[in-house]
Amino acid sequence: MTVTIVGSQLGDEGKGALVDRWGGDADVVVRYQGGDNAGHTVVEGGEEYKLSLVPSGAVRDKVGILGNGCVVNPRTLFSEIDDLRDRGLEPDVRIARRAHVILPYHRVLDGIEEEVKADDESGVEVGTTGRGIGPTYEDKAGRRGVRIGDLLDPEVLRERLAYAVPQKRAVVEDIYGLDIEGTDREDAFDVDALHEEFVEIGERLADEGMTVNCSDYLYRRHEAGDRILFEGAQGTSIDIDHGNYPFVTSSNPTAGGAAVGSGVGVTTVGDGEVVGIVKAYLSRVGSGPLPTELDGDEREEALADEIREKGGEFGTVTGRPRRIGWLDLPMLRHAARVSGFTGLAVNHVDVLAGLEELQVCTGYELDGEEIDTVPTTTERWARCDPVYREFDTWEEVDWTAVAADGYDALPEATREYLEFLAAEVDADVYAVGVGPDREETIELVNPFESSASE
Ligand code: GDP
Ligand code: IMO
Ligand code: MG
Repeated sequence: MTVTIVGSQLGDEGKGALVDRWGGDADVVVRYQGGDNAGHTVVEGGEEYKLSLVPSGAVRDKVGILGNGCVVNPRTLFSEIDDLRDRGLEPDVRIARRAHVILPYHRVLDGIEEEVKADDESGVEVGTTGRGIGPTYEDKAGRRGVRIGDLLDPEVLRERLAYAVPQKRAVVEDIYGLDIEGTDREDAFDVDALHEEFVEIGERLADEGMTVNCSDYLYRRHEAGDRILFEGAQGTSIDIDHGNYPFVTSSNPTAGGAAVGSGVGVTTVGDGEVVGIVKAYLSRVGSGPLPTELDGDEREEALADEIREKGGEFGTVTGRPRRIGWLDLPMLRHAARVSGFTGLAVNHVDVLAGLEELQVCTGYELDGEEIDTVPTTTERWARCDPVYREFDTWEEVDWTAVAADGYDALPEATREYLEFLAAEVDADVYAVGVGPDREETIELVNPFESSASE
């Protein structure tokens, strides 16, 4: 039985909170794509955990897997595990031997490429998290990557580095015209230094028995009747295939990624539940269009500020203020289709309380025509004018009490809002987030208990 958690919008929809919520009913929690660009927050009894790589199930003492579709920075991994141990948890993390390794030069290259793009008139800077995600997936596709399994064999690792590193040096020195020798980049492009550090990392992975054949491991767990929760990172509109390219991440957060990025068959993933996590408004960190962005005039900016402050909309990984917009249904329809949502979890309805106005974008106007899905090119999307429907706002209430009392305790206007969007994307609301804490989620359906997953 599987449940797949997918970001429906632009990331930061509150996936961590739902993975934590339903992780209690899972045996294994699997990240299937991305790397330490993710920032998933779990709040339990006021205690906050921010996880960028360790699957959020760690807070529930579940086995956490980083699947073959992930890119893994071992430095982040170990520091996160060590921090969790310092806080009294015993994270049990296993890493697919087929997952790719983020090496120090990938991070350097991510930074250089973003700087070059920032200087380019075409405005193609993505505003990446700087974690080396894109360059690592590039090397994976270019068949010059280093995989976790390679770290376990010093000779193979040396061969891989001896091939890749001179190429990376040439890119920096000859294409970008930048120095390596005598700069703080030196170690990142030194085969011997890299070999020494990453052999040691391989030894720790081996000593702690952390590497797995992911597909085989999950197959056996599934056959034994264990419950698997797939934890998507990022979101549909920044999916490399289905998002607004080129302002995307370099992996597939959409549900198909769960099968490819873990080695669990599509029929198994498809037999389970796929829950789209929705933020009740939009936030975006990084560049790219955002048709419903609240930045048109002072009044809109004041509304955005209010939502940003109340919702704590500052990047978990980078601390950057997130851009804010109204909920965008064309985006949600696209997300529901691409991943085949069986249910929705809508978070942050508490953040919208007490606002002066509340709008939902129900479609776009583009070149005099009304459309109801996201155009395939970013240039066309950027030219879309949102068509809005105004909703009644709701007052601030005691959300903790509402969470304890259940769905019917929500203000009527909130329920109308939720029911409208569920009908629009043809998926039931499984959960409603009214605050960051585990206890501040109203659960209508537990996907592990629903008929589709039995
Ligand atoms: P993720 O990347 O999708 O896991 O989301 P993030 O953790 O980056 O961002 C979501 C933020 O909102 C975190 O600070 C959460 O603790 C918080 N959060 C999650 N659900 C809710 C909710 O329903 N209401 C409020 N106010 N905050 C929430
Ligand atoms: P979670 O899992 C929001 C954005 C970056 C940038 C683009 C590419 O917390 O929802 P990358 O470093 O991946 O090459 O950056 O994607 N981005 C995210 N935005 N939430 C995330 O993860 C993100 N991970 C990457 O800001 O625009
Ligand atoms: Mg996040």
